[in-house]
Amino acid sequence: MKKNILVTGGAGYIGSMLVTKLIAEKHNVTILDNFEYTKDSLNHLYFHKNFKVIEGDVRDKSLIKKLILNQNFIIPLAALVGAPLCEKNKKKAIDVNFNSILTILRNVKKDQKIIFPTSNSGYGIGEKNKYCDENSPLNPISLYGRTKADAETEILKHKNSVCYRLATVFGYSYRMRTDLLVNNFVLNAVRKKKLTIFEPHFRRNFIHVNDIVNAMIFTINNFQKLKANVFNLGLSSANISKLMLAQKIKKYVKNLKIQIVHNKKDPDQRDYFVSNKKIEKKGFKARISLEQGINEMVEIFSRSKTEIKNNY
Ligand SMILES: NC(=O)c1ccc[n+]([C@@H]2O[C@H](COP(=O)([O-])OP(=O)(O)OC[C@H]3O[C@@H](n4cnc5c(N)ncnc54)[C@H](O)[C@@H]3O)[C@@H](O)[C@H]2O)c1
Repeated sequence: MKKNILVTGGAGYIGSMLVTKLIAEKHNVTILDNFEYTKDSLNHLYFHKNFKVIEGDVRDKSLIKKLILNQNFIIPLAALVGAPLCEKNKKKAIDVNFNSILTILRNVKKDQKIIFPTSNSGYGIGEKNKYCDENSPLNPISLYGRTKADAETEILKHKNSVCYRLATVFGYSYRMRTDLLVNNFVLNAVRKKKLTIFEPHFRRNFIHVNDIVNAMIFTINNFQKLKANVFNLGLSSANISKLMLAQKIKKYVKNLKIQIVHNKKDPDQRDYFVSNKKIEKKGFKARISLEQGINEMVEIFSRSKTEIKNNY
C-alpha cells in the first residue's frame, strides 16, 4: 500500500538509492537535505509527481515539526557520517546526529513509524575472535559512533521503530562515497594499480547499498513483526579479512600490486565477525555478493573520470 515517507539525508549515499526504490514502489516520498555534497544524485527523480524535495536543515526544529505531520514512515539518514568528519565538527556532529533525532522524537505521534540506521562499528574493539550479535556490548570510541549509538537508544524508546546496525556498506550509488573500505580499495586498485594494507588479518562484515535498500523496503512491508527491535544488517558470507578482500579485487583488476605493511597499526582497530541471524530469522537475508559490487565499481571507475567529493 502507498505510504507517505519522509527521508532526511535523502540525497546521500544510501538515501539516493533508497528514495529511487521508494518512488519505483509508488510511495509518496519527501526528502529533507541541505545538499552538503551534491544535488545531482536525485536528477532522475525531480520531475516525479510523487517526489517532494525540501532543501533545509534537520537542525531546524519548526521545519521538522511541519514535515513530520502526515507521514507514515520517517527514515532519518541525515548525519555527519564517519569519525574524521565528526572529529572536525564536534558540536555540529552532536546537533545533526543526535539532537535532531530528539526533535523528531518530540514531534512524532505514537502510530508513526521510524526506521533508523546506525553503525556496528562499536563492536569488536578489543573483542578479538568473537562473533558479535545484538547483545554484544556496543562501545563506540569515536564521537561519530557515540552520537549514533545514543540516537539508537532514544529511538528505541519509541515502540514503533526498527533500528539497523549496518555493516560497512559497499557498492555504487548516485552520490558516491569512496571513504568506505571496499569502495576505497576498488578505486585505488583501478586508478593506482596498488593497494597498501595495514593489519591485513583484520576482519570486517560488509553489505551492498542495494541490500540496505531491500532491507528498508522489507521493513516497510513487514513492520509489525519487526518493530521495537534492533538488528545487525550485513551479508553473512562477507565476514572476511582485509587481505581476502584485496585478493578478491585482484581477480577483477589486472596487474594489481598488494603491498602489506608490517609493524604499522591501522587507525581503524576493528577486527570482528558479525552475526546477522536475528534479521535472517525474520525473513530478510542480504544477497548481493562482494564480487558483484566489486565488478560494478571496477566497470564504473574504469570508464568514468568524474571527481568524487567525499566526506573527509
Ligand atoms: N554508509 C555506511 O557505511 C553507513 C554505515 C552505518 C550507518 N550509516 C548511516 O546511514 C546514514 C546515511 O549515510 P550515508 O552513507 O548515506 O551518508 P551521506 O554522507 O552520503 O549522506 C548524508 C546526507 O545527509 C545530508 N545532511 C548532512 N547534514 C545535514 C543537515 N544538517 N540537514 C539536512 N541534511 C543533512 C547530506 O547532504 C547527505 O545527503 C547516516 O545516518 C549514517 O550514520 C551509514
